[in-house]
Amino acid sequence: MPHLHHSCQEQAALFQPVIADIQDYSRGLFLLALEDLPEGFSFKAGQFVHIRVSSSDHPLLRRPISIQRVHQGRLELLIREVGVGTQLLHLSKPGDRLDVLGPLGTAFSPIQPGERVLMAGGGVGVAPLLAVIDQAAVGAAGDLCYGVSTASEIQELDPFQRKDCFFTFHFSTDDGSRGHQGFCTDVARLLAGKQVYNRIYTCGPWIMMQKVFEIACGAGLPVEASLEVQMGCGLGACLGCVYQSTDGEFIRSCIDGPVVDGYTVEWERA
Ligand SMILES: Cc1cc2nc3c(=O)[nH]c(=O)nc-3n(C[C@H](O)[C@H](O)[C@H](O)COP(=O)(O)OP(=O)(O)OC[C@H]3O[C@@H](n4cnc5c(N)ncnc54)[C@H](O)[C@@H]3O)c2cc1C
Ligand code: FES
Repeated sequence: MPHLHHSCQEQAALFQPVIADIQDYSRGLFLLALEDLPEGFSFKAGQFVHIRVSSSDHPLLRRPISIQRVHQGRLELLIREVGVGTQLLHLSKPGDRLDVLGPLGTAFSPIQPGERVLMAGGGVGVAPLLAVIDQAAVGAAGDLCYGVSTASEIQELDPFQRKDCFFTFHFSTDDGSRGHQGFCTDVARLLAGKQVYNRIYTCGPWIMMQKVFEIACGAGLPVEASLEVQMGCGLGACLGCVYQSTDGEFIRSCIDGPVVDGYTVEWERA
């Protein structure tokens, strides 16, 4: 099994960045860029920030969002509006300040020179996988299977096209408007059959990650998954994010995850 990176909560900061830009894609998807970060702010791909979405007490709980990139002093987040919290974020305006805690949680294992990793991301689940590519060592390689409903949900990927690494993007859309018509797991399954990978990473809807786990089992590969379990404090204190692993241990997704060894997850639950 891969050795997953331990949680780095001790480096987490509470800060109030300014919204620099909000870029809209279709179906409630948007890219939020924050600036005025703490000096030296950095993160490991897979980690998340916990955002207070309102200055009032409603909604009370922060919302966890994976970090896609920190570039030229801007922290970039890819968000889909699904409920009141993400709607409030979407309604924010450039110049507004947010209350942010992070970076929090565990990270994907970095891709080293000479390694090749297969990745499968669905919707906003692609964000931490793009972070993996952004942070991969020179000479690293991989394939990213990127699945969305329709082509207009695919963001600008030029910032993630690296000349010093060997990453290939494989798109899938439900409506066939770009790439393979169907699921990104269809493409991942074919690629995994080539037996050229060191391991698999995944983030997205539960059912998608469950399929990726089955693909990893079939190919005999380690798999790391970023779990979107609902959270409270984000700091290991409230136990609001606990689930039971296959070996009976109680896992706190916020500090023992969100990135976990896929073989420890009870995929059949719920
Ligand atoms: C570690 C982590 C990283 C995440 N990264 C991203 C990201 O990069 N971009 C992004 O858009 N979203 C991400 N999410 C999911 C995001 O946190 C939720 O969509 C958000 O909290 C929903 O808040 P809301 O107030 O808009 O919706 P709510 O009103 O709270 O909920 C709307 C609906 O979504 C369901 N729901 C809410 N949160 C979750 C969840 N975590 N898992 C399953 N169902 C849920 C609710 O049951 C409800 O049906 C991440 C979650 C985690 C745990
Ligand atoms: S969210 Fe509070 S313990 Fe994980």
